[in-house]
Amino acid sequence: MVAKKHFNHISLAMLLCMTFLAFQVTCRTLQDASMYERHEQWMTRYGKVYKDPQEREKRFRVFKENVNYIEAFNNAANKSYKLGINQFADLTNKEFIAPRNGFKGHMCSSIIRTTTFKFENVTATPSTVDWRQKGAVTPIKDQGQCGKFLIICFTNQIKLNGYLTTNLPCIVGCCWAFSAVAATEGIHALSAGKLISLSEQELVDCDTKGVDQGCEGGLMDDAFKFIIQNHGLNTEANYPYKGVDGKCNANEAAKNAATITGYEDVPANNEMALQKAVANQPVSVAIDASGSDFQFYKSGVFTGSCGTELDHGVTAVGYGVSDDGTEYWLVKNSWGTEWGEEGYIRMQRGVDSEEGLCGIAMQASYPTA
Ligand SMILES: *[C@@H]1O[C@H](CO)[C@@H](O)[C@H](O)[C@H]1NC(C)=O
Ligand SMILES: *[C@@H]1O[C@H](CO)[C@@H](O)[C@H](O)[C@H]1NC(C)=O
Repeated sequence: MVAKKHFNHISLAMLLCMTFLAFQVTCRTLQDASMYERHEQWMTRYGKVYKDPQEREKRFRVFKENVNYIEAFNNAANKSYKLGINQFADLTNKEFIAPRNGFKGHMCSSIIRTTTFKFENVTATPSTVDWRQKGAVTPIKDQGQCGKFLIICFTNQIKLNGYLTTNLPCIVGCCWAFSAVAATEGIHALSAGKLISLSEQELVDCDTKGVDQGCEGGLMDDAFKFIIQNHGLNTEANYPYKGVDGKCNANEAAKNAATITGYEDVPANNEMALQKAVANQPVSVAIDASGSDFQFYKSGVFTGSCGTELDHGVTAVGYGVSDDGTEYWLVKNSWGTEWGEEGYIRMQRGVDSEEGLCGIAMQASYPTA
């Protein structure tokens, strides 16, 4: 008994000593081990498989860096929003922004903004709008691997009918299709009284004559043009999303579940004008979504940081004021429900710059019915 106790004391001392000597190494290893486990759990959750151990090690390091960034942000920052670990957690911000390395923007010279704005004389707008509650918004979709973004065609400043346009975005990935479809679903629900999920894949496959280039990018206005010329879009169910460029299924494309008669651009750089439009229907907006904070946005009112180099198409489906009095736009994204607030983001509204946060007021447009 005594001997055993004595032994226990020695082993405890030895353990403490070893722990002290190895303290730093041990800590690091333990930390890495738990991070490794987290990475493994994350891989399982998102169905990630890496091609070899080297790739896995590389992805682990990126994952670790991102997790550390997210946790440091959430612990330290006195911000109105939180970040979270999502499906993009093993991508560096650079990789996140440019899924297609080396892609060069194509010409966007065909873009001409419309000048009529049917909501210009709207005087009273509600203080809060949420089109989801009015049955004008379909569930969150996921554009998946069909590119997340990008790329802006850099042009000189162009003055079109009084609108000064600094850069004309050709948005790479299919986000343009999701944005245009969500706005079309919205106006169709409001005018026809029936919410129908419509086909992005039809736009990706068939809207290839103008600026729009399927997974290589497009513009919401050009998507509206296609829908008008095609006399509508088929349903999501009949022409389902595949996430890759495909051959246009002319048979399905000829069937139309909903149509629009025209589209209009919201006067640029004017959040009040955007509010008038969003008060009346869901509106397609282009934003700069390239920052790390956007990549990992989880909840709250997003206040930046971000620039105004428009690279992503989303849909403003409402606006409101948060509990702490911050005005926000309610924005529907197409990155699944794991990202943000169940797939949505609330972005600060009424900022100092006329372009709006992340340029949200620069290139807004909506279909008419
Ligand atoms: C944190 O935010 C609150 C409320 O917005 C503000 O009053 C306070 O000054 C901020 N603190 C720091 C350190 O920025
Ligand atoms: C807005 O009001 C002005 C002045 O009454 C009028 O000329 C214009 O046509 C109106 N715009 C719309 C879209 O109704």
